[in-house]
Order: sequence, then C-alpha cells, then structure tokens
Amino acid sequence: MSDLNPTVAELVERSNRLGADPKNTNYAGGNTSAKGTETDPVTGEDVELLWVKGSGGDLGTLTPGGLAVLRLDRMRALVDVYPGVEREDEMVAAFDYCLHGKGGAAPSIDTAMHGLVDAAHVDHLHPDSGIAIATAADGEQLTKEAFGDKVVWVPWRRPGFQLGLDIAAIKEANPQAIGCILGGHGITAWGDTSAKAEKNSLWIIRTADRYIKQHSKKLPFGARVKKYEPLPPAKRRARAAEVAPLLRGVASQDRPMVGHFTDDRVVLDFLASRNMPRLAELGTSCPDHFLRTKVKPMVLDVAPGASMDKVRERVAELHEAYRADYAAYYDRNASQDSPAMRGADPLIILVPGVGMFSYGKDKQTARVAGEFYVNAINVMRGAEGLSTYAPIDESEKFRIEYWALEEAKLQRMPKPKPLASRVALVTGAASGIGLATAKKLASEGACVVIADLSLEKAQSAAAGIGSSDVAVGVQVDVSDAAAVQAAVDATVLAFGGVDLVVNNAGLSLSRSLLDTTEKDWDLQHDVMAKGSFLVAQAAAKAMIDQGIGGDIVYISSKNSIFAGPNNVAYGAAKADQAHQVRLLAAELGEHGIKVNGVNPDGVVQGSGIFASGWGANRAAVYGVEEQDLGKFYAQRTILKREVLPDNIANAVFVLCSDELSHTTGLHIPVDAGVAAAFLR
Ligand SMILES: NC(=O)c1ccc[n+]([C@@H]2O[C@H](COP(=O)([O-])OP(=O)(O)OC[C@H]3O[C@@H](n4cnc5c(N)ncnc54)[C@H](O)[C@@H]3O)[C@@H](O)[C@H]2O)c1
Ligand SMILES: [Zn+2]
Repeated sequence: MSDLNPTVAELVERSNRLGADPKNTNYAGGNTSAKGTETDPVTGEDVELLWVKGSGGDLGTLTPGGLAVLRLDRMRALVDVYPGVEREDEMVAAFDYCLHGKGGAAPSIDTAMHGLVDAAHVDHLHPDSGIAIATAADGEQLTKEAFGDKVVWVPWRRPGFQLGLDIAAIKEANPQAIGCILGGHGITAWGDTSAKAEKNSLWIIRTADRYIKQHSKKLPFGARVKKYEPLPPAKRRARAAEVAPLLRGVASQDRPMVGHFTDDRVVLDFLASRNMPRLAELGTSCPDHFLRTKVKPMVLDVAPGASMDKVRERVAELHEAYRADYAAYYDRNASQDSPAMRGADPLIILVPGVGMFSYGKDKQTARVAGEFYVNAINVMRGAEGLSTYAPIDESEKFRIEYWALEEAKLQRMPKPKPLASRVALVTGAASGIGLATAKKLASEGACVVIADLSLEKAQSAAAGIGSSDVAVGVQVDVSDAAAVQAAVDATVLAFGGVDLVVNNAGLSLSRSLLDTTEKDWDLQHDVMAKGSFLVAQAAAKAMIDQGIGGDIVYISSKNSIFAGPNNVAYGAAKADQAHQVRLLAAELGEHGIKVNGVNPDGVVQGSGIFASGWGANRAAVYGVEEQDLGKFYAQRTILKREVLPDNIANAVFVLCSDELSHTTGLHIPVDAGVAAAFLR
C-alpha cells in the first residue's frame, strides 16, 4: 500500500469533522469530495482524480475505503454523451466506466454534482437550518436576504446528473458565490482548498441558523394545545409501554418491524402545538428524510389519558385510513414501470403527550428514522418561523421513493437473517443456557433483552453481544409480578414490542424429601413455576396487542418427566413448567402464539447452577469428581456426548424459526439421549 494521498487524508478529516455535528447533516446524509492528482500506475504520469463519498455510509465515520475514485477527465467527458434529463439515470451506470483502478466504494447519485462543479473541494450537506430555508415557501427571497449574493438559490430538482449541471452553471455565472441552497433539499458549498470548502459550508449553516433565530416568529408551530401537553416523565413512559405493542402491530401489518421510541423535548413540543396536524400531513421534504420516514407520519389524535379501549378503536380507524391514503398516493403517482407498492403501514407514529415511535427492519433503521423525523421537525420549525413550510410535491416524493435506482439498491440488499426484526426476551440470560440462547438469537438477527437478577451482569452480558441496537440488559426477579411487567415494558420501549420469550431463569436445590424445607419448595416454585407464568402472562398480553403471533419457549428439564434422585422441589417445579407449555399452547394458538419447551440435561459447562453447589452435590450423589461431572453425564447418554449450552440455544432457535412454524405444545429433549426421559 502506498502512503495515503494527502488530498484524501484532508478530505476524510474534513468529512469526519463535518459529520460529527448533527447540526451539519443528518446521519449518513450528504457527501463530500476533493479533486487532486496521483501517479497513474499504467503510464507513470500524473492523473487527475475525483474522490467522492460513495453510496451509503456516514460522513462522521467516513474512511478512505468509503470513497469512490473516478478519473476526472472521463467523468467530465460524460457531458458530451448526456442524453438529457429524461434519461439522466443512465449516467449512474456510466460512472462505472470512469472509475480509477478498482474504483473504491460505489459512486452515488450525487457524484455528478461533485465532478461537474469547477472547484477542487465540494460539500453537499443536509443541515436542518439550511433545509428550513430550502423548504420555506419564499426560500428564494430568504436566500437573498440571509446570504446576499454569496449563496445562490437552486430550484428543486431531483438529485442526479442534471442537478450537477445546474449547479456547475450557477457557480460559473456567480463567481462571487461560495455555495447554494438547493430548494426542498439541502445545501452545497465549495472552495479551492479543503479548509475553504469547510469554512464555507459552516458559514452557510451558521448564517442560516442565526438568521432563523433572529427573524423567526415567536411560536412557529402555533399556540400550545392543552389536551396534548406532555404527561410527566414516568407516566409518559408507562403510557408509551402500554401503547407500544398496539402501534407495532400497526407498523407491522405488511412486514414485521422493530420499533424505536423517543420522548425528546423537540418531539413533545411539536406534538403539543396547534399546527402539528397540518404540518404532519405535509410530510418531510429532504429525500434522505422521507425515504426513511415515509411521506407522512400517522398521528394518534387522542389525549394521552384516554382509555385503552378508546385508543384501540381510534388506532384501528387511523390505521385503515393511513393505508387507504398511502395506496391512493401510490395509485395517483405510479406509472406502468413503477416498482410494486412496498407496504402501506406508517414508519412514524406520533402520540401527542407521549412521544414518537419510529420503525424499521432493524433497530438501527428504526432509530435513524426517528432521528430523521426530529430533523424534519427542526426544518418545519425553521421554515414556519420565517414563512410557510412548503415541502416538495408528492409526485416528486413518489419519484424518489419508487425510483428505479432506489429499487435496485433495495434488491441488492442481502437476504435478511431468519430472526430479523424479531424481538426476544430471555430470562436468566446473564449466564449459562440463557446467555448462549441470547447470543444465538442475536446471531440469527433478533434484538435481544437480557433479563436477570443483577442489572450489572445483565448489562455486561448484553454488551458482550453487541451495541444497544442489538442487545440490552434489564434487571428482573421473575417471581415478582411488578418487576416482570417492568421488564416487558423495558423490552417494548427498547425495541417496539416482543416476539420471542424464553422462560429460562431458574435455580436448583437438590434435596431429599425429608431435607427439603418449605422455603426451598417455595423458592423453586416461585422462580420457575410462578416466574414463567408471570413472564408468559405479561408478554402474551403484549403479543396479543401486536397481533403478529409470537413464540414462548420454556427451558424445562429432563427432570420434568424423569424421577431423578433427591429432587422433589426442582423436579416438581419443572413438571409444572412443562405442563404450562401444553396449557398455553392450547390457549394462545388462536393468537398465532406458539408455546414449546426444551428439556436439557447435564449441561455443566457455563452453568451457574452447577458451579454454585448443585454440581458438587450431583457429583457426590453419583460418586464422581465434580470436574468430571460433564463427562460422567455424557457416558450415561445414548450418544455419549456432553451437552453444551449452545446445544440448548440451537433448539430454542429452531423452535422459533420458520422451519417449525406449525409446531406448538412440543418439548425437544436436548440430553444426548436418555431413554428414561423419552417423550411419548
Ligand atoms: N444446566 C442444566 O443441566 C440444566 C438442565 C435442565 C434444565 N436446566 C434449566 O435451564 C435454565 C438455566 O440454567 P443454567 O444451567 O444455565 O443456570 P445458570 O445458573 O447458569 O443460569 C440461570 C440464571 O437464572 C437467573 N435467575 C435465577 N433466579 C432468578 C430470578 N428470580 N429472576 C431472574 N433471573 C433469575 C440466575 O441469576 C442465572 O443467571 C434453568 O431453568 C435450569 O433449571 C438446566
Ligand atoms: Zn442530498
């Protein structure tokens, strides 16, 4: 590897600085470029190159690998073969013929703007302040007033080759200009050095911000609406948890979605204002925004204290109306060769007094959709403060949403993992079988909540699995009904809902009948029999509200059917759990909820149960050394294999996967074969 070209190093540093401040651009929004020279390995001569942020990726974390590298002479030669705006999309494929070497990242649609503008360094950004002016009804006039002749107005045009030509012409005609406001969309700035471009970008962003602050009317969103004032924080979260499953069901009618909740001040203020319904209806404007938020949100227009019956009824009406409205939007705008409608459920649901739910195929997508709607609220506040918010026309939104290039991007996406967009709650998951199960479910695409007695252990187990977009840890004592409800609430607030519940929490006291105390009996039954009942009950309530089925898996035991020695309290509690599987399978089937169990045996490795006395006890009962217990158990089995936590985790996964979609009320033994525990 040759040393990094200084032009590239400078570009990456500038991009990272710009991308680090959310005031400058939304997550993964905007792109930057630099033109410079490198030695052409073929000729040994200097060659002029364009480095430009490729498709996807975020400026804040851009690395040289995220840049597309094009030959500037060839890129600019495209102007001569450009067939006109009607066929501008063809130019994206033509970029591939301009690549230098392997070309780096895939060139994005904005490549033309960067290549054609005659400046060594170009930034295209989506700052809330800039978009506010870009979406104001009199944006052109405001641009003059705010920036004088240093910044030029460019009327809305869909990103592409023609927009690049427009901006290049504007720069040429306005030598004094440092950049432009792109109507309905964002800003572009340039400079002959990297530092100049950065300075110019920041000047436009900050000047716009200052201009809005100085000239905005007092209440851009109108007077406050009493009925929609935010609930106090604790009540707000409780209400959010109450409505979350219902709303996830709304967002997931066409395909299951992960949810994200925020009760950010910006959101609550917007929701409690008179003009919110009108503005929400107008939808977002910047292409980046509405690709993730859909053209408009659904607004749950009931007071935050309304009864759940009222909420249920209204949600059903609003959902139906939203779907009809979306289908009508599709029908109005689709042409013969438009891609098929992608689903008519909302991606943003606003709940006045409570907050905002946003949805996506995974947690990151859901979270970013929410962030983008916050960007859109800031944009609307700025635009309404100065003038009237006037986003681009719905026909233009449609063209972008159903753009052939966008569709191709979606088609290129890798096939989702088997448990993608499903949310799992695993009890006792800080250790042993539960931890292995949580890891397995996450590796198959699920979001997981690790619930265990110790918050610290639960959180550190979650951190070991991934970021909070993948796993979170919560404290729970499953024998306490309020704590169980709180854990289910935390799950639906973290990921929007709950689909897979694993009743794994447990402990084992190995005592003979005469040695078993009443307290022993109660503890075994409280944690395992009652605990799994409480968890199943609270989770099933949420699942029924969601209306998209679900799975409950019990980690029972070989001992639920096998009469092991000195085991009355544990074995009886396990038998109780095993029968819950059958009872609940019968009861919850009508909601599409499957209930199954796994009967493990002899899982010594990683098991806290074995490490904390039970292992020593069993070893003594069987007359072997404690460290040989795993091997001893293996020898008693038909397959002569030691059972590991991963073997149990795999069984849980299979029960939850589509492969066993028609199986409920089943127990799978994972014991390497124990004839005395065969099921019949
Ligand atoms: N290890 C085996 O051979 C085996 C065999 C059959 C069944 N099981 C069952 O598998 C499950 C997991 O066992 P393991 O071997 O992984 O044990 P483990 O001790 O490693 O894990 C059990 C976890 O449950 C948690 N827990 C205990 N009481 C709780 C409560 N009240 N609320 C919330 N969490 C609680 C513990 O803190 C622990 O992290 C248990 O239900 C056990 O009965 C294990
Ligand atoms: Zn853009």
